[in-house]
Amino acid sequence: MSAPIVPASPAVVERAARLLLSGQLVAFPTETVYGLGADATNERAVAAIFAAKGRPRFNPLIVHVTSLTEAENFAVFNPDARRATARFWPGPLSLALPRRADSGLSLLASAGLDTIAIRAPAHPVAQALLRETGRPIAAPSANRSGRVTATEAAHVAEELGDCVALILDDGRTPVGLESTVLDLSGEVPAVLRPGGITLEQLTELFGPITAPGSALPKAPGMLASHYAPALPVRLDAVEARPGEVLLAFGPSAPPDFAGVLWLSRSGDLAEAAANLFAMLRRVDQPLFTGIAVMPIPEHGLGRAINDRLRRAAAPREG
Ligand code: TXA
Ligand code: MG
Repeated sequence: MSAPIVPASPAVVERAARLLLSGQLVAFPTETVYGLGADATNERAVAAIFAAKGRPRFNPLIVHVTSLTEAENFAVFNPDARRATARFWPGPLSLALPRRADSGLSLLASAGLDTIAIRAPAHPVAQALLRETGRPIAAPSANRSGRVTATEAAHVAEELGDCVALILDDGRTPVGLESTVLDLSGEVPAVLRPGGITLEQLTELFGPITAPGSALPKAPGMLASHYAPALPVRLDAVEARPGEVLLAFGPSAPPDFAGVLWLSRSGDLAEAAANLFAMLRRVDQPLFTGIAVMPIPEHGLGRAINDRLRRAAAPREG
């Protein structure tokens, strides 16, 4: 039986909190993407997240909290981490920090690491759910492992409808890409996953910063193939191939595609980010032979968009 999708009224948020406290899974909107939530202090509930997503056990989860004050119960904050939260929380920035020995968090959430990734989401429904639950909530993106991320409640139902007790609906998520994961547990700050807070914004705060793509170990979950639709994905397309559908960026698109959707006609990266996953889903239909995507500039949110697109286009692992 598929989980109910319910508009996120205060009464429904209260019901969702009760479900979480009883160990069930609840999907909820954040400003980035929909999350598949569990009480982060309940080992069995966190295990159910891994089962529902088909997620490898070596891939740790992000723990969501209301604020820095709450986060300090679970992770050891250094001065850089405090500066980052002062500037970007609540918001789309997750910090990997040493886990406190007395955190009480599920061990599975960290997947055996001695760090924990933590963030305070800005979305009012996520904040209300956290307050009502009174516990930290572990929440990966609400898609099956390796598939396209869910930015609408209906996408969550398609992906995980059988595994969640309730899907809180508050429409399309505004940012549309996952949070930036910033590792502040080592000697120098390192971006493990580009996302809603840009490298430029972080550089302003910290100076030059280690970006992904270097030889450093990455977020354990950053598999080469991810965000994958059923159709093959071709990047930097400047010409049509027979039967392909195009995701266009900028005012003019090359001719002869079997279909076109505009990520952003005006070339706005924030608009393209917000549209990306929903459009990847919409064009993923057997009437097309493949999905072509026009070049996206590699700056600002374009870095995170291109990161997701490269993984969507990568050879599938099976
Ligand atoms: O925007 C988001 O971050 C969304 C919403 C729901 O908050 N969540 C999300 O979670 O994208 P997930 O599980 O799909 O991605 C979490 C990423 C993975 O790449 C994981 O490997 C990395 O964060 N991560 C989690 N804990 C970590 C840790 N302790 N050290 C390094 N990377 C970690
Ligand atoms: Mg994910």
